[in-house]
Amino acid sequence: MLKRILITGANAGLGKESARKMAMKTGVEKIYLGCRNEEKALMAKRELEQQTGKMIFEILIIDVSDLNSVRSAVQSLEAPIEGLVMNAGGTGGQHFNDKTKDGVTQIFAVNLLGHVTLTNELLKARKLTKVALYAGSEAARGVKEMGMKRPNLKTSSEDEFASICDGTFFGNTKDATVPYGPIKYMAALWMSSIARQYPDIRFITMSPGATTGTEGFNTLSPVKQVVMKGMMKVMLMIGKVHKLDVGANRFVDGLFNASYPSGAFYASKKGLTGAIGEQGKLFADLNNNTFQDNAKNAIHRFIS
Ligand SMILES: NC(=O)c1ccc[n+]([C@@H]2O[C@H](COP(=O)([O-])OP(=O)(O)OC[C@H]3O[C@@H](n4cnc5c(N)ncnc54)[C@H](OP(=O)(O)O)[C@@H]3O)[C@@H](O)[C@H]2O)c1
Repeated sequence: MLKRILITGANAGLGKESARKMAMKTGVEKIYLGCRNEEKALMAKRELEQQTGKMIFEILIIDVSDLNSVRSAVQSLEAPIEGLVMNAGGTGGQHFNDKTKDGVTQIFAVNLLGHVTLTNELLKARKLTKVALYAGSEAARGVKEMGMKRPNLKTSSEDEFASICDGTFFGNTKDATVPYGPIKYMAALWMSSIARQYPDIRFITMSPGATTGTEGFNTLSPVKQVVMKGMMKVMLMIGKVHKLDVGANRFVDGLFNASYPSGAFYASKKGLTGAIGEQGKLFADLNNNTFQDNAKNAIHRFIS
């Protein structure tokens, strides 16, 4: 039973729908809506209270691309959480390739650096006690249907992983979907590494699968938005993607169902929807302990 849960990026899309569903689970007493924008957070809180009839939502201001904001959020939590959902993320906005003051790209900061810091700080303060779920993506093992290639690393050394963090691995790409997959791949590796380090806590990477009805494409360039949204509509019609309900259910299941083993990464077995399976069976590099630790150590180079 999980009493207190924190969800990052909880004012929209999968984060908000997961908050709604988790609030209906037996034993849940508090859900922290981890949001960067207070106004949007308040709107989401009111909507969730109306939908569920429960007054258990509390806003926690957190911008996962700003490590000071992450640290302040952890300090302001007055009691430990039992469940953490690292959901904030996506394609990183119009300036996804710009560097943050920590030296990583915006897209890396929002998907991974902030969540690594959040987890580290929670563990250090003994404020995370049972389970952490990371919002992964099938892009981590490549998705032929979407033209996304499997991450192609030459050495999988710490240096090579660090070049994903600071963006040099990708040169001057203008396409946010290029770094997105490798970053989600690194996230899954980091989760497996930290799972070995903290055996008393369950760490699960779970992809929601290709999910419509979120705001995920809203920050892409206008042309890319039209292309991606159009493609999602067609794919929904032919059953290649699914609705918000299905994606959020994967997060609820991953967080509450202890039969998913710690350190594993679950996503669609085929394509972007349908039954889920352990992704290490599709992409063996995910199970390589050295790669996992190299990914984690590379990320830590950017946390001062
Ligand atoms: N939808 C899919 O098909 C799909 C597939 C695979 C994986 N995923 C993953 O699932 C997660 C949720 O995706 P979604 O489709 O639900 O996206 P979404 O509708 O765009 O929601 C993203 C949420 O993250 C928040 N966020 C963005 N940057 C943030 C920051 N710096 N600090 C705090 N919060 C921030 C957004 O807040 P604002 O409103 O303030 O921007 C929003 O609440 C992402 O990690 C995504 O990569 C999605």
